[in-house]
Amino acid sequence: MSSPLKELHADITTVLEGVVEFPRREAELLLMAFLDCNQLYFITHQDDIVDAGNPRLAEWIEKRSRNVPLEYLTNRVSFYSREFYIDEGALIPRPETEHLIDEVLSHVNKEEEMTIVEVGVGSGIISILLALHFPKAHCIAVDISPRALSVARCNIQAFGLEDRIELREGDLLACVSEKIDLLVSNPPYIADDASLESNLSYEPQNALFGGSVGDEIIQRLLDEVYARSIPLFVCEMGYDQRLKVQEYLKSFAVQSLEFYKDLASFDRGFILKT
Ligand SMILES: C[S@@+](CC[C@H](N)C(=O)[O-])C[C@H]1O[C@@H](n2cnc3c(N)ncnc32)[C@H](O)[C@@H]1O
Repeated sequence: MSSPLKELHADITTVLEGVVEFPRREAELLLMAFLDCNQLYFITHQDDIVDAGNPRLAEWIEKRSRNVPLEYLTNRVSFYSREFYIDEGALIPRPETEHLIDEVLSHVNKEEEMTIVEVGVGSGIISILLALHFPKAHCIAVDISPRALSVARCNIQAFGLEDRIELREGDLLACVSEKIDLLVSNPPYIADDASLESNLSYEPQNALFGGSVGDEIIQRLLDEVYARSIPLFVCEMGYDQRLKVQEYLKSFAVQSLEFYKDLASFDRGFILKT
């Protein structure tokens, strides 16, 4: 079964109507990924004949019509202008997490020899970007999920960083006894009973939900920062968690606490110097 690209585009758009917010654009993205082409090619090859019965395309359309995220179908995701492998074992990296990378880069000297620990490595994007930017750093990246660790391992190998990033399975810092110079984390921070869009149901739930209030893991990480005298902690958080973090830190000695915002001007994380 073959059809011109423009007809297939229209058909997929119809299938996605009522499922995703922008069906025409989503159908275009799906077809561009399937054809492995860019938008210019897509626009200028509208009359090309495409094998509409291709089983892989049929599977993608069926899954996308159930709102499975496109990244989990293509196994590709872009973050900080680089491409990473992704599957349902790890959270799909979000653009707002790029701010966390920017904040670390602006607070740490590139030439510093240091031990960086990431809690909740997921697909590995944060540790990989930091290892690339800080050539003298040694990174230890922890996750409680073996499936997430295997996604991270795949990406670390693709970037040739096996000697620079050590993966460990464990709960927060339980498996790290080394002195830590910099702790980074994008922990789960959504409240367990929050109602979320249906596409999020395909992502690992322990990557999203942080406890009955939502900020429980952030608070446990703050306890660890003080128990282990970690001088610098950069952490992503929910847009409504700034006051909770400030309140929690009232009983600790703080050298400085800065909050940063995302592109939508929501509070998105903090930089704590102890
Ligand atoms: C929001 S995801 C972040 C993934 C990745 N760093 C990113 O920014 O895209 C949070 C990660 O924390 C992990 N996680 C959840 N609870 C944990 C715990 N108690 N200890 C270690 N990792 C945990 C999850 O498995 C998940 O991979």
